[in-house]
Amino acid sequence: MGAGAWCWSVIVGVLVLKAALFVVVDGGSTSSFVRKVEKTIDMPMDSDVFTTPPGYNAPQQVHITQGDHVGKAMIVSWVTMDEPGSNTVRYWSANSKRKRNAEGTLTRYSFFNYTSGFIHHCNLTHLKHDTKYYYMVGIGYTTRTFWFTTPPEVGPDVPYTFGLIGDLGQSYDSNITLSHYEMNPVKGQTVLFVGDISYADNYPNHDNRRWDSWGRFAERSTAYQPWIWTAGNHELDYAPEIGEDEPFKPFTHRFPVPYKSSGSNAPFWYSIKRASAHIIVLASYSAYGKYTPQYKWLEEELPKVNRTETPWLIVLLHAPWYNSYNYHYMEGESMRVMYEAWFVKYKVDVVFAGHVHAYERTERVSNIAYNIVNGICKPVKDQSAPVYITIGDGGNLEGLATNMTEPQPEYSAFRESSFGHATFDIKNRTHAFYGWHRNQDGVAVTGDTMWFYNRYWKPEDESKSV
Ligand SMILES: [Fe+2]
Repeated sequence: MGAGAWCWSVIVGVLVLKAALFVVVDGGSTSSFVRKVEKTIDMPMDSDVFTTPPGYNAPQQVHITQGDHVGKAMIVSWVTMDEPGSNTVRYWSANSKRKRNAEGTLTRYSFFNYTSGFIHHCNLTHLKHDTKYYYMVGIGYTTRTFWFTTPPEVGPDVPYTFGLIGDLGQSYDSNITLSHYEMNPVKGQTVLFVGDISYADNYPNHDNRRWDSWGRFAERSTAYQPWIWTAGNHELDYAPEIGEDEPFKPFTHRFPVPYKSSGSNAPFWYSIKRASAHIIVLASYSAYGKYTPQYKWLEEELPKVNRTETPWLIVLLHAPWYNSYNYHYMEGESMRVMYEAWFVKYKVDVVFAGHVHAYERTERVSNIAYNIVNGICKPVKDQSAPVYITIGDGGNLEGLATNMTEPQPEYSAFRESSFGHATFDIKNRTHAFYGWHRNQDGVAVTGDTMWFYNRYWKPEDESKSV
């Protein structure tokens, strides 16, 4: 073959290949954003973000989470290192001089050759809605004061803005993610965290000092707004090879959640109401089959959701049900088989998951027709189904999931392998604006957006009304 003929055959070949690609890629879009590939490494222990606050027995790792079912309570947690100190939290509202004291509890735990500091938890109850409170911890020795704002009373048209972060870890990228979230002009008021917190278990003997350093790193956000916790696989800390056979030991000692107030009997699945949202947290790593406590709880929980009171039904879990990356592929499948029909029946608006270290948003799809013999096992567009969002892109040391299944499945609306966070900005009972922010962009820039229409109050196809 002469050089000219060879050249033409290459050109024709490329054109045919391009045409073929155009035909087979009938899913959504895979972002063309080109990210500079860099190794994701944890910040060293002497990093400024891990600094221990000065002063004898100074409280550190301060974090708060909702303390009841409706947002009138806040659990305050902190750690003291030198001695137990006081369990008391002194707190007062910004528009009152009257200070109150609440008494908390003390716990600590051992893990292999590590012994934790003194871990304090204190639930501040009977708070007023929509009120700024100051709170002081460390009474008796070095005190530190922080503040938070309680949510408005639960109601159908209460605007409220949630942040979405997952798989955060404590790498340099984690630090960028957290800073981006803090500086985002959308101003998230509460973080919905979809699991995998510190990644201490990636260190020899699950070096629990990395739980402490994570607590100090994230305090700049977790002390000032509640983070709603979902348990991921990195919270399991199950290590029988070193004699640690109690799953979730560091997690449950450090991160209390108000599970009892929603009738749950374990801190891995529970619900809260906050502003206009009913948020259900599920456990990918606790039993969820029929007859299990989680199954029975969810079966009773879903009919209780009152969309006239809380129009927005949001589910958090760790292992995604719809994920078109080659990482953790189909790990969420058995839970999807168990619960997806319920999510469609009860018209869940959106499901946020983590686990896969990348970003993806699906179309509204369901896959619930299969019955072993009928062969109907492909996701179909379904306006009663949730949108599934994977937001496991917080930036931990394990790095990005870059390998995607090809072609992009039809259910996948948008996917990109970059670190970032998202916000879910509820405007009223019908509309919420969702935005995903990649770390490489300016803080106000969105890499993916969607106007959500509420599935109960405005069950229309969002994609047809741009
Ligand atoms: Fe995970």
